[in-house]
Amino acid sequence: MTAHDIAPPLLTLRRLDEVEGWFFPADQFVFDWLLTHQYARGIRGDLLELGVYKGKSAILIGYHVMAGEQFTVCDLFDSDDAPDDPTADEMRVYYSTLTRQVFEANYLRFHRRLPTVVQSPSSAITDHVPERSCRFVHIDASHLYHHVRADIAAARHLLAEDGVVSLDDFRSPHTPGVAAATWEAILTAGLKPVMLTESKLYGTWGSPDTLRDALAAHLTTHPTLWGVTEDVAGHTLLRVHSR
Ligand SMILES: C[S@@+](CC[C@H](N)C(=O)[O-])C[C@H]1O[C@@H](n2cnc3c(N)ncnc32)[C@H](O)[C@@H]1O
Repeated sequence: MTAHDIAPPLLTLRRLDEVEGWFFPADQFVFDWLLTHQYARGIRGDLLELGVYKGKSAILIGYHVMAGEQFTVCDLFDSDDAPDDPTADEMRVYYSTLTRQVFEANYLRFHRRLPTVVQSPSSAITDHVPERSCRFVHIDASHLYHHVRADIAAARHLLAEDGVVSLDDFRSPHTPGVAAATWEAILTAGLKPVMLTESKLYGTWGSPDTLRDALAAHLTTHPTLWGVTEDVAGHTLLRVHSR
């Protein structure tokens, strides 16, 4: 079976719009394309999401979990478990209607079984997921610099060769800490940017060229997205834009 065989039907994707969250069409396309592309090229490994909220991105990732692969999600779910006061404040302002039950009910509207749910600060994730086991890590939890920096270090530890990390909110006005941690990892910690959308930057500690060029070629026939490459600080990355 290939990932294409289990790609979500259009009806399912329409229902994904009914799930509250911050996971936009360009990234829905890139996740779907990337996870399918990895599988088609024999890249196997586990999937991990840090920061699930009500499950919008986790539900799509869940369609790409293949036989023998594990999908783990990590979230605080409750401001009482926040590791510090700024995180508790952020939870109360942005995520006041979040509960683990809401996430699980949403996920089970789309899938028969839940992923492994780790209810804890993302700083504990390396206690739950084996080193070098993952092909994809989505970092979408805290927006604070020191937490995102630690999440990126955890992703590096958990990703297998040619695994990909996706960093949400790497350029939003309200998340300068994510921007700082992202570009710091690129400039000083060996993270190679592959592509970016308005919301997310995708990178690898493996080889970026084949992946970037394959997506660039694919986008030449896409009806609503287009791509252009740009050299930035010694890296060639693909900018993905909507028409
Ligand atoms: C932006 S939302 C995630 C959005 C989600 N991926 C989607 O597609 O809609 C961020 C989530 O991260 C969680 N979070 C914030 N700080 C965290 C931390 N330090 N550890 C784990 N989860 C955290 C919040 O509870 C919230 O559910």
